Amino acid sequence: MDEKTGYVADFPSEIIKEGKIQVLVPNLKAYGVVPSDYAPSKAPVFYNPVMEFNRDLSVLAFRAYQHMVNHEVSICEPLTSQGIRGIRYATEVDGVAKVLASDINHHAYELAKHNIELNNLQDKITLKYGDANRLLSSNASPKKRFDIIDIDPFGTPVPYLDSAFRALKNKGLIAATATDLAPLCGVHAKACLRKYGGNPLRAEYCHELAVRLLAGCMAKVAAQHDIGIQFLFSHSSDHYIRVYAQIGYGAKKGDDSLNSVGYIMHCFNCLHREITHQPFGCPTCHECGAKMDYAGPLWTGPIADQGFVEQILAENQSIAFRNNAKINKLLTQIKNEANAPATYYVIDKLGKKLNLPAPANQVFLAALQKAGFEAVPTHFNPRGIKTDASALAMQKVLKKLVSAQ
Ligand SMILES: C[S@@+](CC[C@H](N)C(=O)[O-])C[C@H]1O[C@@H](n2cnc3c(N)ncnc32)[C@H](O)[C@@H]1O
Ligand SMILES: [Zn+2]
Repeated sequence: MDEKTGYVADFPSEIIKEGKIQVLVPNLKAYGVVPSDYAPSKAPVFYNPVMEFNRDLSVLAFRAYQHMVNHEVSICEPLTSQGIRGIRYATEVDGVAKVLASDINHHAYELAKHNIELNNLQDKITLKYGDANRLLSSNASPKKRFDIIDIDPFGTPVPYLDSAFRALKNKGLIAATATDLAPLCGVHAKACLRKYGGNPLRAEYCHELAVRLLAGCMAKVAAQHDIGIQFLFSHSSDHYIRVYAQIGYGAKKGDDSLNSVGYIMHCFNCLHREITHQPFGCPTCHECGAKMDYAGPLWTGPIADQGFVEQILAENQSIAFRNNAKINKLLTQIKNEANAPATYYVIDKLGKKLNLPAPANQVFLAALQKAGFEAVPTHFNPRGIKTDASALAMQKVLKKLVSAQ
């Protein structure tokens, strides 16, 4: 029994340090789980140490948002598990007036309660036992709404989006994680259509499509409430994607957001892709004449704001985390690709298509730039390139490069 809180863990547990705090979590070694088993683990309360990176980034993004709006903020984290996120937000984000957290798992609730007391945060964090949608709905009246809502579920965040938008203040921030990459990346296309209302595609840039499918779904759900949406930051890391979006009340804003919902047409024959907002019949590729496939409806607009990402980078300089260097690398890449065209090419895929050796990243990037194209690496794939060059132009540059070697 813990002397301070009276809590008794009825499962193997251990104290861990993360960011600026300490919490009690299930001892995963006792369950014989290896890292690939972490999500969801066999422990009675969910805990995934790999997500420290995700939580660090969330802290930094919320700090950037708080500095941007420059007022005290309230945060709701309705799927808290052991409470680690809410506890970190209350401790590591400046200007947090209050955090409301909940979980429907009784063991998780008890453990989160203990962890909040362990960190002396009873005055700042309110914990509820119960359903996330119920909690959000009961805080949807104008005076109760939140500045920030963090949806961190098992699998898809979609079941919580509607109530989250209703419980978010004008200009509030919503952050959502999705770990169901099999549907989003086209392995289970029907599940993606059911949950996100869009068709996925097993193209080489499926991780960006995953972000855009979730973003498109969020824009559509927000618009149902006369809410517009702007994506400030998003990333694909490990086994998940995560997006951060600021909302704005108003039917016109909702209409404007829907203007950014469309389709990405893809040619599996020559790798050409194009964005369309028009309904289409049976489209043929403008480059090679083959039949094209499509992904969507999905978000075709920006999925990161360069200025906001710069602010997160600045936050990363101002607080010591184990992951500072890794975060710096990711954010620098995202900052550099924030204004680049949608989708990316994977050098090896292009090489395979042409039966040519695939060059090193820097060599191909330099060749594209020399040919007059914009070309930047992307965080979505270590061999990926975002460019305004067409698929045909990419092929020409690669052929020329190989013949010159
Ligand atoms: C991925 S875990 C959350 C992890 C946590 N945020 C972290 O950073 O470690 C998802 C949590 O949602 C809880 N959950 C699932 N369905 C729920 C619901 N309908 N309402 C509230 N909590 C729910 C689960 O018990 C689980 O603890
Ligand atoms: Zn084609």
